[in-house]
Amino acid sequence: MGDTVSGDTVTANTILGIETSCDETAVAVVERATVVRSSVVSSQVEQHAVFGGVVPEIAGRAHVRDLVPVLAEALATAGIEGPGGSAGGIDAVAATTGPGLVGSLLTGVSAAKALSLVWGVPFVAVNHLEAHLYASFLEEPDLELPLVVLLVSGGHTMLVLMEGHGRYRLLGSTLDDAAGEAYDKVARYLGLGYPGGPAIDALAMDGDPTAYAYPRSMVQENPATLSDDRRYAFSFSGLKTAVVNHVRNEPDAPTADVAASFQAAVVDALVTKARWAVEATGAVGACLGGGVAANSLLRERFAGMCNEAGVRSFVPSRAMCTDNAAMVAAAGWWRLHSDGPSPLDTGADPNLALPLIA
Ligand code: KG4
Ligand code: ZN
Repeated sequence: MGDTVSGDTVTANTILGIETSCDETAVAVVERATVVRSSVVSSQVEQHAVFGGVVPEIAGRAHVRDLVPVLAEALATAGIEGPGGSAGGIDAVAATTGPGLVGSLLTGVSAAKALSLVWGVPFVAVNHLEAHLYASFLEEPDLELPLVVLLVSGGHTMLVLMEGHGRYRLLGSTLDDAAGEAYDKVARYLGLGYPGGPAIDALAMDGDPTAYAYPRSMVQENPATLSDDRRYAFSFSGLKTAVVNHVRNEPDAPTADVAASFQAAVVDALVTKARWAVEATGAVGACLGGGVAANSLLRERFAGMCNEAGVRSFVPSRAMCTDNAAMVAAAGWWRLHSDGPSPLDTGADPNLALPLIA
């Protein structure tokens, strides 16, 4: 990443970030990808909970309703007048353009473009997965590279080797369900409500993680026995089926034990493969990202694994793990300084992939 934007000396320090890819409406003002002046998140969780999952139509409407008040609060907290009139010191507007729900993405992308035009400042398109990667840099700007990142959210589960800013190698990803999706589906089956991750996390505290030996997919003693494409791959749909079959056959199994044993299986697979990645790549550190990184057991086990492997670990604060706009502003700052502004005809892309190096 260079020091210039489109040939001019960098003056773009203060970025307004907008996040509307799923069920959180969020706006933040961040300086130089390190200082959070404001970060407002309006969660739609209660509106979706009755349906047991995110309903795209409800999410899209809620973003339209909530974005302007969330924007006004983020600007006011940062001490900026708005949203009308001048940019009030905002140098660029960044928004998540994908991946996510298209109806949700469009609200944030359209608002960001409108603000960019009205204020006469650049628009920056941000990849939601890259934003999760930058959440760690926002809180720990001195993180050294190369870095193994375990990105675990409701929609994605992947191990990424970050070799430089904006330079990613995909080591492996899930073959079926994302880790968060498995949490949400198992929680739903156990009648724990939505979102399932926090519910299972809390219940597992009272359970025995060794009560039931649920399967750990593609987790061998010796990683060399796995083919290259399976070594860092994850699979959680078999685990989900194993839990459902077990509870169907043994309805009296204590739910806390089921939750704790399920969680132990998920975290074992995630941490084991992250360790293999750290050891094989020679990374100097490892960090977590995404909503599932808010999980108590994963946070503890991941930090312990890095300690044992002798590499630096970074686990972002829980608020920075789940969807927020500060991480979007941070990733936007890096993108602006590497690629310059994004064209205003950049569209929302529900399937946008993390940009990888060959
Ligand atoms: O990153 P995120 O906020 O949204 C997506 O981009 O998907 O992640 C949401 C996911 C949900 O599946 C939720 O159940 C899970 O993160 N999650 C957790 C915890 N908190 C949120 N999973 C396990 N333990 C938690 N404490
Ligand atoms: Zn996310």
